Amino acid sequence: MDKNYYITTPIYYPSGKPHMGHAYSSIVADVIARFKKINGYQVYFLTGTDEHGLKIQREAEKNNKDPKEFCDELSITFKNLTKTLNLSNNDFIRTTEKRHFASVNEVWSRLVKSGDIYLDKYSGWYSVSDEAYYDEDEIIQDGAIKKAKSSGSKVEWVEEESFFFKLSAWSDKLLKFYDKNPKFILPISRKNEVINFVKKGLKDLSVSRTSFKWGIPVPKNNKHVIYVWLDALTNYISALNFPKTNDKLYKSFWPADLHIIGKDILRFHAIYWPAFLLAAKIEPPKRVFGHGWILSDDKKMSKSLGNILDPLEIIKNYGVDQLRYYLIKEVSLGNDGSISLLNLKNCINNDLANNYGNLCQRVLSFIEKNCESKIPQPGKFEKIDVDLSEDITKKLPKLIEMIDNQDLNTYIKEVINFSFKSNKYFNDLEPWKLKKTNIKRMNTVLYCILNQIKSISILLFPIMPNSVEKTISSLSLTKKNIFLDEINNQNLLKPGNIIKKGEILFKKIESD
Ligand code: ME8
Ligand code: MG
Repeated sequence: MDKNYYITTPIYYPSGKPHMGHAYSSIVADVIARFKKINGYQVYFLTGTDEHGLKIQREAEKNNKDPKEFCDELSITFKNLTKTLNLSNNDFIRTTEKRHFASVNEVWSRLVKSGDIYLDKYSGWYSVSDEAYYDEDEIIQDGAIKKAKSSGSKVEWVEEESFFFKLSAWSDKLLKFYDKNPKFILPISRKNEVINFVKKGLKDLSVSRTSFKWGIPVPKNNKHVIYVWLDALTNYISALNFPKTNDKLYKSFWPADLHIIGKDILRFHAIYWPAFLLAAKIEPPKRVFGHGWILSDDKKMSKSLGNILDPLEIIKNYGVDQLRYYLIKEVSLGNDGSISLLNLKNCINNDLANNYGNLCQRVLSFIEKNCESKIPQPGKFEKIDVDLSEDITKKLPKLIEMIDNQDLNTYIKEVINFSFKSNKYFNDLEPWKLKKTNIKRMNTVLYCILNQIKSISILLFPIMPNSVEKTISSLSLTKKNIFLDEINNQNLLKPGNIIKKGEILFKKIESD
């Protein structure tokens, strides 16, 4: 069985500082990457910045900067965010890097060779903000300006010599490809949108520009720069050392298993990207998942509404695991989801401080006080003990399936429910009373609950890596034990080993 897994985030425009939407896509991808890793996969996880095109060039001009210098300054803020979010990415690609030029040149040359590219003249609407071409019927008039219906961003008229990609020739082949790969586009609702769009027939796509310079020159014709989306999408193979198709990275990890993106860029990933690849005789990725929007108090986050939640600010005030947990729990992946400070605080208190955090804290404290801080020796397990652990072990295959379907939301709810039930077990079996009546039974109950903390922690690891590492080390275990297989290992915890309680994992947030 193929135990390699390649997952990517979009490469973000460094046209401004990173915001919560960027943080969200990256956290989603990281949770899946980490889960696959603890499920025994070799994982390659890529993120980065998308640095060419008119949008970046204009932003640099506004700031009186040379575009490269401008990108250097802002790309670093995205790279820093990967550290702040505690991402496990293997690489951070910038499209201004040399390795990427080689890869884009090769894709272009293959498209020329296959006869999919021709020279003509483009005239039509273009949104610089979206770096996208729009048809007349995709435009609305808003006062004096024209806007793209889908994104609301301003469009301008473009007329210039341009190379075209024969996208029109790929409609039927794409439809066949979607048909053969029913899970290529998820969620299903988005897939249907794409299919309907392709069924209407695709037009050839302008893939070069002559009116500005900030891009990768077309090979053998440097009057043109390559369309920024053809450039940007290729990052996913550049990072694997394409065009060296015999390279170990490329051979191990292409085709990608999963591109995590927002719904705004689905058309590029689900239509253009597989068409470019099929034409260049490269296998398309296995899946594109287009998630929804993060809304702030039910509105799209925007500077003018003043409702932007800054990920750095939130992490500073509440902690990175808290933010990661909250986003995954609160927003059902695939749908739009509203976030707010009030809900964040409630989530931290209810799920983390009062539930999982409390479970760890009370059990470890009890053992510290009553068992000389040692893992107790269990006696014979009773039905209620076996039921407790089997609750998780029996559901494990389902949990794995949830992640493979990108159903992170249900996954997290299941896992936090295990924690809730474990707290109940502890309450119901009252080890503090058993201490006076039946020490052997008390030890068994404590061992079972510790084992449960271990399992729940492993399941929470992909979402809250820092906190879980602390719990795992409290149990006298190491990072190496953070593996799904260890959930089925009922003897991992060694009686007699020292329990270190450590500091409180999640502080309760007082309401103000
Ligand atoms: O589109 N909610 O870059 P970009 C959720 N460079 N996710 C959001 C979001 C929100 N409110 N706002 C942004 C580009 N995102 C191209 C991508 S890929 C080859 C090139 C996330 O900086 C979401 O993933 O505009 C969205 O697709 C992405 O950021 C757009 O980032
Ligand atoms: Mg955008």
